[in-house]
Amino acid sequence: MSRTPIIAGNWKMFKTIAEAKEFAMVVTNELQGVTGADMVVCAPFTALAALRDALTGSNLLLGAQNVHFAEEGAYTGEISPRMLTELGVRYVIIGHSERRAYFNETDETVNKKVHASLKHSLIPIICVGEDLDQREAGQTFTIVEEQTRAAIAGVAANQAAELVIAYEPIWAIGTGKSSTAQDANEVIGHIRKTLAHILDQETANRIRIQYGGSVKPDNIGEFLAQTEIDGALVGGASLVPDSYVGLVRGAV
Ligand code: G3P
Repeated sequence: MSRTPIIAGNWKMFKTIAEAKEFAMVVTNELQGVTGADMVVCAPFTALAALRDALTGSNLLLGAQNVHFAEEGAYTGEISPRMLTELGVRYVIIGHSERRAYFNETDETVNKKVHASLKHSLIPIICVGEDLDQREAGQTFTIVEEQTRAAIAGVAANQAAELVIAYEPIWAIGTGKSSTAQDANEVIGHIRKTLAHILDQETANRIRIQYGGSVKPDNIGEFLAQTEIDGALVGGASLVPDSYVGLVRGAV
């Protein structure tokens, strides 16, 4: 089955509104008319409104980096799914390893956020991945399988088909040390098998699974050439306009 690749930039806690607008001006111009991949920018909450305006009429889509699972309520500092859709956000990263490590994100909250996002037609980009100790202990498959099962528990197959999963080995994030494309392909193949067990083969074949971790314009092609890898979730290299453009061009 052919799946449209998805290249998503995760800006993390980088870029002011002015910087986001500057990025959008260059990138939308460079990527005008480019097809063959979904292009997403997951910006900080503060830049979303300005980016929505700057991306209107372009082929780039807006993403956020986190969401709360409640409809509304006394959750100081949090943002609800409806607040994001109101801003034109289409994708939301859920369960990034930095949120799991620094902000008490758990498999349970990831699952709640996935349900809440789908309910509001936001497409979750669910992050899974092992740390170095787990990798060296040979636990990679078990970890990604457990995280995947927990994240999509209770999600119906017809809704699950829209999901995006990002396999991000923690040891490869921001280290310049990416997984080999073959290794990433193998782990992603295992995630797809897990999805087929939980859901069904047809749905598993439709779900897009990205690789993330030190992806750059000069190595994205190797990842995208693999049969199971449907795109990339990119941190550092997505911040520079030329480099973002290079990532997309390397993918289409
Ligand atoms: O979510 C993307 C990410 O964690 C990978 O970051 O900087 O290694 O591309 P980076």
